[in-house]
Amino acid sequence: MQTAQPPIPRPLYDIIILGASGFTGKYVVKEALKFLNAPSSPLKTLALAGRSREKLVKTLQWAAHPSSPPNDVSVIIADTTDLPSLSSLSNQTKLLLNCVGPYRIHGEPVVAACASSGCDYLDITGEPEFMEEMEAKYHEKAMETGSLIVSACGFDSIPAEMGVMFNTRQWVAPAVPNHVTAYVSLESDKRIVGNFATYESAVLGVANMDKLQQLRRSRPKKPRPVVSDHSTFLFVVDILVFHGLSGTLVCCRIRMLFGFSRYLRILWCPCLI
Ligand SMILES: NC(=O)c1ccc[n+]([C@@H]2O[C@H](COP(=O)([O-])OP(=O)(O)OC[C@H]3O[C@@H](n4cnc5c(N)ncnc54)[C@H](OP(=O)(O)O)[C@@H]3O)[C@@H](O)[C@H]2O)c1
Repeated sequence: MQTAQPPIPRPLYDIIILGASGFTGKYVVKEALKFLNAPSSPLKTLALAGRSREKLVKTLQWAAHPSSPPNDVSVIIADTTDLPSLSSLSNQTKLLLNCVGPYRIHGEPVVAACASSGCDYLDITGEPEFMEEMEAKYHEKAMETGSLIVSACGFDSIPAEMGVMFNTRQWVAPAVPNHVTAYVSLESDKRIVGNFATYESAVLGVANMDKLQQLRRSRPKKPRPVVSDHSTFLFVVDILVFHGLSGTLVCCRIRMLFGFSRYLRILWCPCLI
């Protein structure tokens, strides 16, 4: 006779937003509330996490305005320097959405906690070295536990990436695209502002460019695709946005999504169009 197995406990939350009280985190909360318990939305349970309960409560009030804050959104205290608090978060959620940056300073313990618990992880980093280092260190663990680790889901990357993917799908074999140039134009009646953490992340990224090169040189080389007569594998992506890191991020993500099915070259272009 088979003995009944105890049911596997389900995580309490669909999503926990870590760093919810930050400049960007607040807008992430505002968007999440639009989907929370909306008809046909899979988002049924949400929690906000961070260092200060007071700030998180204020964030929830701000994000829900003009409605009153939903009373079924939990507030959890966690700090990236407090590993048990991260472990507890990752065991309570299906997806941890990490808005705490710069990621080269704060990101690794969060990725490590998710990779070891098996919960999914998503962030808005614009720091290629962080992404590549995390892939190098936690890929095997994440494969073992089934954790999906997805970085660079911010403005810096997603519009450019969607443009590249849309473009590649318009071509009919044997034609393939071999050059994509993307432009982003920002217009607003209000002032366009960046926050200090974004500036700090960019400065640290540029200051540590040599570490990124070292990391890349230290990784095992993946074979480039074989170029046949009738197909071109040279796929050039020029992304002319902000400090030029977008191109790198799009390429990192497309490499991760498609392996090396295409070879990507980055043009660095420090201009805002
Ligand atoms: N890729 C993109 O397009 C894009 C766009 C926007 C932002 N970003 C990136 O997102 C990151 C955040 O930017 P931001 O402007 O939102 O920063 P921010 O306003 O400084 O917010 C940082 C958040 O992290 C929290 N935090 C800081 N240290 C922590 C710790 N040790 N443990 C737990 N939480 C901690 C802060 O909590 P407290 O409230 O307690 O201080 C705050 O909630 C930056 O790396 C930035 O580059 C990327």
